[in-house]
Amino acid sequence: MARARAFHGTIVHCPTVGETKILEDTLVVVSASGQISHVEHDVPRADVEKTLSRLNLPEQPSAITLLDRTDFLIPGFVDTHNHAPQWGQRGLGGGLHILDWLDEITFPNEAKFRDAEHARKIYSACVDGFIRQGVTTCSYYASLHGEATTILADVCHSKGQRALIGKCNMDRNAPDYYRDKDAAESLQVTRNVIDHVRALDASSGGGALVKPILTPRFAVSCDDELLAGLGSLAQENPDLPIQTHFNEAQQEIDATLRLFPDFTNEADLYDHFGLLTDRSILAHCTIMTDYEIDKLRQKDSGVAHCPVSNTTVGGGFMAAPIGRFLEKGIKVGLGTDSGGGFSSSILDAMRQAVIVSNARQAINGEPALSIWQCFSLATLGGARVCSLADKIGNFEVGKDFDALVVRGGVDGVMTMVQEDDSLPMIFEKFLISGDDRNIEEVYVKGRQLKGKST
Ligand code: GUN
Ligand code: FE
Repeated sequence: MARARAFHGTIVHCPTVGETKILEDTLVVVSASGQISHVEHDVPRADVEKTLSRLNLPEQPSAITLLDRTDFLIPGFVDTHNHAPQWGQRGLGGGLHILDWLDEITFPNEAKFRDAEHARKIYSACVDGFIRQGVTTCSYYASLHGEATTILADVCHSKGQRALIGKCNMDRNAPDYYRDKDAAESLQVTRNVIDHVRALDASSGGGALVKPILTPRFAVSCDDELLAGLGSLAQENPDLPIQTHFNEAQQEIDATLRLFPDFTNEADLYDHFGLLTDRSILAHCTIMTDYEIDKLRQKDSGVAHCPVSNTTVGGGFMAAPIGRFLEKGIKVGLGTDSGGGFSSSILDAMRQAVIVSNARQAINGEPALSIWQCFSLATLGGARVCSLADKIGNFEVGKDFDALVVRGGVDGVMTMVQEDDSLPMIFEKFLISGDDRNIEEVYVKGRQLKGKST
């Protein structure tokens, strides 16, 4: 299990969203229970031991990592929108519009999770795959199956990934072989999964590494009774976050408004059912009216921006107006979405977020995003969207130590580091061209999940 550790070198993090600090010669001390207990700046490498003794720590770190000039300690990535069952289908169905892609590719794939062994195999590979890429926190949609969803929670818990786990609610507009029987059954399975996930957490001393999340797939696949039942659960359980797909594509918006003729937009619809709250994680938000943007702000709901799947699934150029959301103060994080896109990497999500923002700027003059802003969305931004910013997202003392050791000098495909590169240049090279080979160590709550242990 975790033990006290110290890291010395350059840390890069965002004290606030949009502000990235590169801090050289910094000493970060992590307690045995996995919290950041001290951060000391301007500590020469030669003085690390002396400084640690001076700090009079209750437990001296048993492992001290000294980072080189081309290495960085950064907060772990937060993936705010991810379908775990889609780990094995990513890349299939290119060009299909969203509802056709669900029918032809996704529902047949997710239906296989009725088999617990299949779920164990795919979920284990999925969680390993995301940890390898530096995702220390992930908000997962499971399939609709209760047993498979509890298996996903068990896998995250045992592998040590911080996760929100949701049984997918869907009682209509899906094939007979992959649909909840009715609203009552869907809600009962949801309650059972919540109990299981809460018990898991309690068994590890209430560390809250794995938490339940309400997961109506989207309004197209939930009838009024189910949405209302989930809204009631949300109200009765103020600790439960909520996730759903929101204004993803024109085909989906048209279908939603046909099913709910009393509403003219999705913001009012989800609000009516008690699902638009400050704990809501709204995936996509690509086609938004000014009214809906204002409503998201007013409700303090968060946006899971998934630019890779938005530009891979067919149906037009879909890209959320992130520059405008940020100007308004709306919480934004990044999501891989997994199945719908070509990549499961948050680094790729950052790059694609830059690209789609450039496109929006060219089309209608909206503010473009820099890769640095996207780094803040991938860390602190995501933590805020998942209602976890009091625990993770940066290296504030008292937060849990969820972190990555990034090495710029390893064999891989990252833009080559040169002698006269400044630290911001080396880090920018990582953000724009690095991959999981550069992410040598991964920690969640102080526990090392990737890399040679020291
Ligand atoms: N809308 C409803 N379900 C899904 C899904 O699995 N992926 C995406 N991208 N959109 C959805
Ligand atoms: Fe999705």
